[in-house]
Amino acid sequence: MTRQRIVTAAAEPAEDQWQQQLRPQRMADMIGQKQVAARLQIAIRAAQKRGEPLGHVLFDGPPGLGKTTFATVIPNELGVPLQIASGALLTAPRDLMPYLTNAETGSVLFIDEIHRMSKAVEEFLYPAMEDFRIDILLGEGINARTINMQLKRFTLIGATTRPGLISGPLRDRFQIREHLDFYTDDEMTELVLRNAKKLHVEITPDAAREIAVRSRGTPRVANNHLRWVRDYATSETRDGRITRQVACDALEMKHVDRRGLDEQDRRYLQVLQEVFGGGPAGVEAIAHTMNTSPDTLEDDVEPYLLRLGFVVRTPRGRKLTAEALDHLGLSHQGRFGSKGQRPLF
Ligand SMILES: Nc1ncnc2c1ncn2[C@@H]1O[C@H](COP(=O)(O)OP(=O)(O)O)[C@@H](O)[C@H]1O
Ligand SMILES: [Mg+2]
Repeated sequence: MTRQRIVTAAAEPAEDQWQQQLRPQRMADMIGQKQVAARLQIAIRAAQKRGEPLGHVLFDGPPGLGKTTFATVIPNELGVPLQIASGALLTAPRDLMPYLTNAETGSVLFIDEIHRMSKAVEEFLYPAMEDFRIDILLGEGINARTINMQLKRFTLIGATTRPGLISGPLRDRFQIREHLDFYTDDEMTELVLRNAKKLHVEITPDAAREIAVRSRGTPRVANNHLRWVRDYATSETRDGRITRQVACDALEMKHVDRRGLDEQDRRYLQVLQEVFGGGPAGVEAIAHTMNTSPDTLEDDVEPYLLRLGFVVRTPRGRKLTAEALDHLGLSHQGRFGSKGQRPLF
């Protein structure tokens, strides 16, 4: 069995307990991302055969696609301890120090949101990643001196939603770099069916597919939908069974439409159309109008809209496409149709 031990768990929102309960523990239990999993398996086996630590791994991709899941599955496969740190909390080298000095030979240190750690921490990490050593500055002024400290040979796993914010020198120090993409409808259906089974919820295959296609190719979204639909079925039906109609009714009550867009997504499209005449508009301006942060839009909203082809990025900003207008039931002239003209769902 594995000897996994979570030394320091990053503070996660309560919602994530549900996600963690459904999180696969082994590579074989993971759905989709087949090529990524296959490449990682080879690297893991090779490292084990050589008796060496796995090379450093960097995952990038939109939220909810399995970066943290891979980062927890890898040490399970290796049978080594895991430490978890959050990039946002690493502001000075001393914040990172305990993780590095605690790291056992072959163990994994996972830094989530690695793009958010400070430049000072990043530079402190370079020799740790490369030579398993850190340079500690002691004293000040003319008395200042640097001492070298040797670390155990560990594996760093980094995850980021923003690969563009990772500097070249940091990226180059990861031997394995993997991008996670949205899941197919078939993969999402498999995930919903499997998780319903784990939860002992009865669900029809067409209901699973309905939840799947409304989950924006994102396992985390599918799991959240499944929880809501299960609650809805328990409360509103006699037998608690999830049929396609139950799934549709439950998700429509949450204003999740047929393509998986929620109110925030539709508001983004509407603002882009109504306020900015379809664009091009900068993400800061759109965020300001929506009273949200550009980070939220770039992380949570835009990737799927880009993927659907509802929005395109141009050098001058975001632009709405005809497909988005069709989906929203808006006219192509840049004006809203009267409400109720075309169904949103
Ligand atoms: N490949 C997968 N197979 C099955 N479930 C997955 C997979 N990827 C993610 N999940 C589920 O989705 C949830 C969110 O994934 P997570 O790894 O936390 O995403 P990220 O770290 O990329 O934001 C997990 O808790 C897990 O239940
Ligand atoms: Mg994560």
